[in-house]
Amino acid sequence: MNIIKVKDYEELSKKAAKIITGEINHNKHLVLGLATGSTPVGTYQELVKNYDNKLVTFKYTKAFFLDEYCLSHPRLFEYSNKYFLEYNFFSKINIEPENVFGFDQRIEESEKTIAQMDQHLAENPIDIMLLGIGQNGHIGYNEPGCSFESTTHLSKLSYKTRLANQRFFSFADEVPSYAITLGIKNILDAKKIILLASGSSKAEAIKELLSLKISTDFPASSLIHHPDVTIIIDEDACSLL
Ligand code: GLP
Repeated sequence: MNIIKVKDYEELSKKAAKIITGEINHNKHLVLGLATGSTPVGTYQELVKNYDNKLVTFKYTKAFFLDEYCLSHPRLFEYSNKYFLEYNFFSKINIEPENVFGFDQRIEESEKTIAQMDQHLAENPIDIMLLGIGQNGHIGYNEPGCSFESTTHLSKLSYKTRLANQRFFSFADEVPSYAITLGIKNILDAKKIILLASGSSKAEAIKELLSLKISTDFPASSLIHHPDVTIIIDEDACSLL
């Protein structure tokens, strides 16, 4: 694992965006896998700046959603990962809509959307997977206990994850109980993985990850033997090391 320690969130975001920009300039047909959550927002903002400054084009880039909530009602669409990535990233760059691969948010469509995603992934292997990390070590919505062989699936969210994500919703009972996620195997199939962690709330998880103990109880530990993983962590996320 390549570990890059930076001072703060701003530096982390710039560093991640610089790596991704460089990779796209090297291969304009790059396929990205993209996390949501608060951690990568700064990276998307930096990528948008690079696009505005003509340092990168997304004309031929493809993008996969890492995960998506199963929403109980269409009125909750603005909490979806689809809305999040559209708002924070896709609407601000020149990516072609047909090059974006996401999930249906309706739970009754989950089987169908999972099968479609598996097909898209088989046709477009991911070059760079951008990840955050949950406080319980989840990656995507692969919660503790999830098999390292898992592929795209419906995941029942843990109490801890639902609690951590309450901040994005107006009411606690709106936080979905289920989500669809690329599986750990899909994540490990990416050629390159970049994991971001910022802030003291991630310090425990980073300590656990860098203890290099591999266990399904801590899904991020599945990354340890991947040949190309870069972890970018800021001072607060490193505070327990
Ligand atoms: C969420 C997402 C993950 C994300 C993680 C951390 O639940 N499913 O993809 O990386 O939790 O989120 P945050 O960056 O907001 O701390």
